[in-house]
Amino acid sequence: MRLGTPLSASATRVMLLGAGELGKEVIIALQRLGVEVIAVDRYANAPGHQVAHRAHVSDMSDGAALRALIEAEKPHLVVPEIEAIATETLLEIEAAGLAEVIPTARAANLTMNREGIRRLAAETLGLPTSPYVFADSLAEMTAAADKLGYPVIVKPVMSSSGKGQSRVDDASQLQVAWEYAASGGRVDKGRVIVEGVIDFDYEITLLTVRALGTSGTIEAHFCEPIGHVQVKGDYVESWQPQAMSAAALARAQEIAAAVTGNLGGRGIFGVELFIKGDTVWFSEVSPRPHDTGMVTMATQRQNEFELHARAILGLPVDVSLREPGASAVIYGGMEATGIAFDGVAEALATPGVDLRLFGKPQAFARRRMGVALATATSTDEARLHAKAAAAAVKPVKV
Ligand SMILES: Nc1ncnc2c1ncn2[C@@H]1O[C@H](COP(=O)(O)OP(=O)(O)OP(=O)(O)O)[C@@H](O)[C@H]1O
Ligand SMILES: [Mg+2]
Repeated sequence: MRLGTPLSASATRVMLLGAGELGKEVIIALQRLGVEVIAVDRYANAPGHQVAHRAHVSDMSDGAALRALIEAEKPHLVVPEIEAIATETLLEIEAAGLAEVIPTARAANLTMNREGIRRLAAETLGLPTSPYVFADSLAEMTAAADKLGYPVIVKPVMSSSGKGQSRVDDASQLQVAWEYAASGGRVDKGRVIVEGVIDFDYEITLLTVRALGTSGTIEAHFCEPIGHVQVKGDYVESWQPQAMSAAALARAQEIAAAVTGNLGGRGIFGVELFIKGDTVWFSEVSPRPHDTGMVTMATQRQNEFELHARAILGLPVDVSLREPGASAVIYGGMEATGIAFDGVAEALATPGVDLRLFGKPQAFARRRMGVALATATSTDEARLHAKAAAAAVKPVKV
């Protein structure tokens, strides 16, 4: 692909739908290649707004508003960064040839709903997943749990970051789980997936990049596996590489190739997998950079955001690891606007430690406001350093 000059007639224009911390890094990578970037988010001064050529505040789940924005800005590429988007509109935009949707409009559409991607993975592709049943009422959910056997995990079909998700150990907890799912779901209030619990040894994100390969066609490139810890469905810590048996790694790559190959297009995917011994289960996939992949800002020659930028522009990628490392999340710890951070110098005093502060205008107790990164000779040591650095950074009210 030929790249132009931003803000001129030759410009290569990319629109980010969602401009959080992940979008911000994609934008920075695109800016370095002289791409003209338009950032969209639902609130003003989102992290990505602050580094883009133009910023828009818009509700991306409003199809008419989304179409109007794309028609006005005429981006060559539309890059979803979040799930909550009017993906039917993206399908129309792509079909009309107005812009190319990354990786494909179908991928964005299928993965925004747990039902779409789960049925594709388990029923169409025949990949191993947790046992599951979809339910539209408390009665159906009860029947599903009886069928699967306790414990089960209940999730709204449209939600992310663990919202509305709970583990149910016996029938007495079903009502609360149903109500919690209804409150935490994004759009479709009454539908949940009930899943059997997989007793895994560890879980990984396998970052898979569909990009130009040596053959001159689009191929899957695999980053080293990323291990992570989730608390209430939200990531708190990640590291790379996660040690795996050769058989489990080969199986993980096979599953990731099958899913991403079906979804198609160009770009990075975060394939979430559960592993026990040499057995691998598919959990879910994000057709975009993954939050646990922030560790790659410290560990890889090209981080996941640079990989995404290159892949979507039709450029070759290098997924190689530079050194082991880890990431640890920095939370807001309070509800306030315009907070400050103390302890930054202390956090950065350890060799190999780095920080990203996202610049979010408003903090919440459990809102991710930054991330600490660390490299070391082992992931164990890197995890200690990343956690210590994250703990040293103290959000304060001003
Ligand atoms: N069937 C299951 N068996 C065991 N653990 C599970 C199961 N489903 C979910 N989990 C645990 O909960 C975490 C979050 O689940 P999931 O990825 O489905 O939710 P999410 O809301 O999409 O989270 P995120 O957006 O942060 O990826 C998983 O990473 C895993 O730790
Ligand atoms: Mg997940």
